[in-house]
Parts: sequence; C-alpha cells; structure tokens
Amino acid sequence: MANFTVVNHPLIQHKLTIIRDKNTSTKAFREVTNEIGMLMAYEITRDLPLEDVVIETPLVETTQKQLAGKKLAIVPILRAGLGMVDGMVDLIPSARVGHIGLYREHDTLDIVEYFVKLPQDITERRIFVVDPMLATGGSAIAALDQLTNKYNCKPENITFVCLVAAPEGIKALQAAHPGVAIFTAALDDRLNENGYILPGLGDAGDRIFGTK
Ligand code: PRP
Ligand code: URA
Repeated sequence: MANFTVVNHPLIQHKLTIIRDKNTSTKAFREVTNEIGMLMAYEITRDLPLEDVVIETPLVETTQKQLAGKKLAIVPILRAGLGMVDGMVDLIPSARVGHIGLYREHDTLDIVEYFVKLPQDITERRIFVVDPMLATGGSAIAALDQLTNKYNCKPENITFVCLVAAPEGIKALQAAHPGVAIFTAALDDRLNENGYILPGLGDAGDRIFGTK
C-alpha cells in the first residue's frame, strides 16, 4: 500500500501491548499512550528538512545542522487524539496544536463534527493529524476533508498518525486522500460488526479518559 508505514520499533510494539491489555489501568494507559506518541513523533519527523548554521564551539567555528523552518502543527482528533499530544509536544515543543472535534455515532457510525480550531497559518505548516484509532476511516477522512477542502491545506503537507489501524480504514483513507502519508504503530486484522478494531485495544477515548 503506497504512502503507508507501519512503525515496527521494539519499544513501540512493547508499549502497544501494554495498552492493548484490558487490565491496564486508566493511569497507565494514559502515560503509555503519551510515550508512544513521543516515539511516533521521532519516526514521523525523520524527513524534516535541515539547513546549515555556523556556530562556535568552545574550540572552533563550525558549520552544523539545524531544522529549517520550524513550522509544524499537531492536530489531534478529539477526544482520543489528545492522548498522544503531550508526548509529541515534548519532542517538538515549537509545534502549534490545532484541534478537530469529531465522534462516531455509536449506532450508525455517522461522523458528528463539533469543534475546529486551527493555527491561523495552518496552510504554511507541516501538519500531523493524530488519532490513536483508524477503524472505518470515517473520522480521519472527515478531519482531512476539513483541512484540505475548508482550510486549503495541501495533502503533501499532511501526515496522518495513528497507533492501531484496520485494513478497512487504511483502504478508505487512501482512496479519499491518496496524497496524505499514513503512519501507524500496528496494522490489525479487521473490524468487528460494531466497527471496533480486532484485536485492537477497545474504545481509546474511554480508556484514556476513564469514561466507561
Ligand atoms: C474513535 C477514535 C477515532 C474513531 C475511529 O473516536 O478515537 O476518532 O473512533 O473510528 P473510525 O475510523 O471508524 O471513524 P470516537 O468516535 O469514539 O470519539 P472519542 O475520541 O470522542 O471517544
Ligand atoms: N474507535 C476506537 O476507539 N476503537 C476502535 O476499535 C474503533 C474505533
């Protein structure tokens, strides 16, 4: 599948097993989800451009590298995307954070949009849209529709970052937004009849916020 990466880092896989476990507490789930967010941030920023900068060490003048233009934006899909943001911002503190509020109607899986707040210069930024779960793809597609149609963001500036993806969600997202790169920590087996990912980790928002 084009433009699609499973991040196979051992630390990420280990931590993912912790949050998949139904016996993991809300506190541990929240902490570990943020840790995985930080590790994913390391992976998804590998291609950020660098520029030369002249500095002086205590010994000599030298030309070294620094990030060229620090215009990044992290855009969590509420609620569950919030669970990855602190870890990502720890690693890329200059990033601005926008929010897109969406949820799936439990019975119909229809997407309900309730909030959008983005940095005013979002079109100039490299954007990381984050949500732990990519199930049917409905939420991710709706968020990317907002960014590309309403806010004129270019698909090539957008990366979608999740922790657990279903093949159905990857396929739908690639069909709707072929220019958007997708990174996931795991590609699971399939969706169940209620639109939950198997084996998955359950309802990410409920597990992060302890609402069930
Ligand atoms: C979850 C998850 C994604 C969405 C994925 O959110 O965080 O946003 O479901 O499913 P999809 O790919 O089929 O759209 P949910 O709707 O439960 O809202 P919440 O984050 O507020 O709990
Ligand atoms: N949303 C979740 O939080 N979990 C799933 O398995 C599917 C959608």
